[in-house]
Order: sequence, then structure tokens, then C-alpha cells
Amino acid sequence: MTHQVRGVISRSKGAPVEVATIVVPDPGPGEALVRVQACGVCHTDLHYREGAINDDFPFLLGHEAAGIVEAVGADVTDVAPGDFVILNWRAVCGQCRSCKRGRPWYCFSTFNATQKMTLEDGTELSPALGIGAFAEKTLVAAGQCTKVDPAAKPEVAGLLGCGVMAGLGAAMFTGEIGRGDSVAVFGCGGVGCAAIAGARLAGAAIVIGVDLDSRKLDLARDFGATAVVDASATDPVAAIQALTGGNGADVCIEAVGNPKVFEQAFYARDLAGTVVQVGVPDPQMRLDLPMIDFFGRGGRLKPSWYGDCLPSRDFPMLIDLYLQGRLDLERFVSETIALDAVEEAFARMHRGEVLRSVVVL
Ligand SMILES: NC(=O)c1ccc[n+]([C@@H]2O[C@H](COP(=O)([O-])OP(=O)(O)OC[C@H]3O[C@@H](n4cnc5c(N)ncnc54)[C@H](O)[C@@H]3O)[C@@H](O)[C@H]2O)c1
Ligand SMILES: [Zn+2]
Ligand SMILES: [Zn+2]
Repeated sequence: MTHQVRGVISRSKGAPVEVATIVVPDPGPGEALVRVQACGVCHTDLHYREGAINDDFPFLLGHEAAGIVEAVGADVTDVAPGDFVILNWRAVCGQCRSCKRGRPWYCFSTFNATQKMTLEDGTELSPALGIGAFAEKTLVAAGQCTKVDPAAKPEVAGLLGCGVMAGLGAAMFTGEIGRGDSVAVFGCGGVGCAAIAGARLAGAAIVIGVDLDSRKLDLARDFGATAVVDASATDPVAAIQALTGGNGADVCIEAVGNPKVFEQAFYARDLAGTVVQVGVPDPQMRLDLPMIDFFGRGGRLKPSWYGDCLPSRDFPMLIDLYLQGRLDLERFVSETIALDAVEEAFARMHRGEVLRSVVVL
């Protein structure tokens, strides 16, 4: 059997997204059919629309989602119909070298549903990040579903599926922030604000938010920044040194994806400190640093993919912290919108007006 539902597709490079009827197959072995309840609008969806990820148009967009499992295929044991799940784009395969070495957060096997969702005329859709959740129903690999406490609101829970998890994990896992650390977060959008929240959860004593936009600096404070720096008016390196007794921060998190900002993060560190790169650079960007400074300053430069998270370990834990009132995930939801308002949400995101617009179905 197949299911005909509405979904948001990107038909060709740069063209506005549109709502179309999509055909979703019943789950095959190892797959799950999910009734999507909410899905956040992420920059990566816009990157797909702009052709910046690849040319496999048409795309079925949306990947920060939560919903209810409607059906599962043969051999699926971890989730069952009725489960409330968050979808993830890094299902751990258990078979690759990283998985077998006990470092599953570096798993790089693409582990998505093998059956294809299509348009009504049979054209195959490429689901964004193997998810495609701006749709009333979507088909994923069962391993992409992580069961969490159904007391969480879907529009809040779904955000852990991408950007918010990336920011929290950049601080808690990649940055290995510990009690008493000083931390600077460059870029206070959804990812950066999540990194600020993660730094607070991890016990950082000083948390400095850096942005060019005063609205984002206000949000940084809301999420727990102890100080903020307006990089449009002040040299952030000098400001961070002044705020850390002249030392620089133990951990600097780059959440923009810009070589200039990376450089600021690199020099705003204390000796032997850590730079975490969670912002995604464009392919043509280059780094140019005196090698002696890399050597002479010691420490660590660490890219962070998906916050080095492990969905099965981290999603339930973070949802519990949210339900206990210790992690303010609701603050990331700037607005809830309908399925046909994704294009307008891209424009608001572009203008810096929102942390997250979330489609509620
Ligand atoms: N590594 C991952 O797994 C992962 C996952 C999701 C998103 N991301 C990436 O994280 C980055 C941030 O995502 P987001 O959703 O928070 O985006 P966003 O656009 O909401 O936030 C970016 C922020 O950076 C600020 N900014 C821009 N230039 C700056 C500068 N020179 N100095 C200081 N601040 C500056 C902007 O004002 C904005 O507030 C993006 O590159 C996104 O692709 C990475
Ligand atoms: Zn693996
Ligand atoms: Zn995303």
C-alpha cells in the first residue's frame, strides 16, 4: 500500500518551494512510516533549495522532526506503532569501522530507508538528510527513529533532530566543557544559543555570546550567556580576553561557518584551549593561519558533526532535562507555522528574525 500526503518539495535550483502530493510507500524491512507532527525549518533546507548540497532535485525538505510511528516493516524491534519519536539523520549502523571501535558518533554509513518516496507521476524524491519531514507522513530507516517521553511537545522535541542538538553537543561532547570553564560562542543563532545552553548545563563559569546582531545577543543572554560581545562594534578577541582575566576562553565555539570568525575563535582561546567548529563552511572557504601560531598555542581544533551526538543516548536524556525544566527548549521555537509557509519562513530566517520556525502538522 502507499500513502498520498502533502509535502514541501524543492523542484529546481533556487525556485520557491511548493506543497505537492507525495506518495509514501508502506515500510519495508528495517523501515518505519512516521506520521510527522512537527518539523523545524533549518538553514540546511534552504541550502538544498539553493542547490548548495547536491543536484538531486526534486528534494523533499524538512529534517528536524518529531512524530508518531504509524507502521514498521519486518525485522524492526526498537520502535513500534504508537511510539513518539524524534527523527535523526545519523542512524548508527553498528557495522562500520567507527561503530565497531566504539565511536559510533563518527559512523558515516548512510543509513536511510531504501524504498523511495515519489511524486504522483513516479518521480523519485530525495529526502533532505535522508528524512524529508515537511510532510504529513515520511518513510525512514527505523534506526532514524529515537523514542522519547511523549510528554514533550512535538514542536519542541523535533528541534533536537538537528541544529539544537548540534549546538548542545558542540559544547557538551565535542568541546568537552567542564565545571568552571570559560567559553565563548561565536554566532548566536539556533546552533550558537544551543551551545550556550549546553555550556551552562556542562558547568561553565563564564559563557560569552558573540554576534553582529543585537537581537541575537539578547537571545544569548536569555539562554544563559554571562556576557555578550557585539562583534560589529568591538574586536571580539580583545573583548573575550578582557572578560577572562586576560587569558582567553578555554573553549571557543564557532557557530557561523566563516573563516574570519574561525580565526577570531582561534586567537580568543587561552593557551592550549579548544576551538570547536560547528558552523558549516562553504566549499570554497579557506583557512590561512601562521603555522607557528597553530603549533605555539597548543590545544585542539575540533570540527563537530551533529554535536558528536548519539541519538539513542542523548535524545531521551535531553528530553528528560527539558521536562524537568533544566533545558529551555521551548525558547528556540520563535513561531509555529503551517506546511505552506516554509518559503516565508526561509525569508524570516534570512533576515535573522527567528531562531526556529516550526511547521506543525
Ligand atoms: N555541524 C553540524 O552538525 C551542524 C548542524 C546544524 C547546523 N549547522 C551550522 O551551524 C551554523 C549556524 O546555524 P544557525 O541555525 O544557528 O544559523 P543562524 O543563521 O540562525 O545563526 C548564525 C548567527 O551568526 C551570526 N553571525 C554572522 N556573521 C557573524 C560574525 N562575523 N560574527 C559573529 N556572528 C556572526 C548571525 O548574526 C546569526 O545570529 C550554520 O553554518 C549551520 O549550517 C551545523
Ligand atoms: Zn557505523
Ligand atoms: Zn538542520
